[in-house]
Amino acid sequence: MQTASTKQELRNMLAEHRGKRIVMVPTMGALHEGHASLMRQARTLAGTGGIVVASIFLNPVQFDNAGDLATYPQTPEADLAVCESCGVDVVFMPTPGLMYCADRSITMEETYLSTVLCGAKRPGHFAGVCLVVSKLFNLVQPTDAVFGKKDYQQLAILRRMVRDLDIPVTLHGAEIVREADGLALSSRNVRLTPEHRAAAPAIRRALLAAKAAYETGTPADEVCRRVVDTLFTIPGVKVDYVELVDAETLHALQDEKRLALLAVAAFFGDVRLIDNIELTRNV
Ligand code: PAF
Repeated sequence: MQTASTKQELRNMLAEHRGKRIVMVPTMGALHEGHASLMRQARTLAGTGGIVVASIFLNPVQFDNAGDLATYPQTPEADLAVCESCGVDVVFMPTPGLMYCADRSITMEETYLSTVLCGAKRPGHFAGVCLVVSKLFNLVQPTDAVFGKKDYQQLAILRRMVRDLDIPVTLHGAEIVREADGLALSSRNVRLTPEHRAAAPAIRRALLAAKAAYETGTPADEVCRRVVDTLFTIPGVKVDYVELVDAETLHALQDEKRLALLAVAAFFGDVRLIDNIELTRNV
């Protein structure tokens, strides 16, 4: 495995691989089993003839909350070991100063899918995600990239970005990886208090109950209300949003025959957790 910290080093390393299948996994580090599963999926997609490139970059531009950025876990040595064990060929680990020019003045604004769910709650977050991912795609020029479906809205926005900007990369969505008790893996989980860690699987239980209710005909607003009620009973938890939307447009579901998405964001103390589940009506 090779590691590049500057853009030029990265370009030099990739020069000999142009023309091959190049599968990218962008990350912000603090890697866990969820990231490992993305990397293993990337390895499978790349096969023996292609290469896997991972980036580890805590992107300051996508943080709308300085405290969240300051407390975001950083574990570079362990991260490199995860990459190595998953068959990554090249890791790009730039610093913010090497990634961004001090006087940068170009922004990336997505104006429809980012106006709802997390986008409505975290101003500028998805603009920062689009900016860094478009830069990473320009640098690496991957044929494919793998993103987790836990960040469902992020994946939808990045699909829109590559479509609207004609970026020649195929995006793959990977299933959410969970702890045995159902909690979706997240780099932020290590910041939960023991009490909040014990309570957090309630999100998954509420989503599964909601799926069963929706599939058997419970109205969408009642489904959401039950999830809010469940989370409301946990001490120290503040619901940021619970919304049932069209899984493609992320806006109000106009047609119940279409795939729906139930998405949740909740603060457990000062740790914001997100999770989601796809829903279909069976009646
Ligand atoms: O999902 C993440 O970890 C980040 O938003 C990403 C895609 C690596 C961009 O910084």
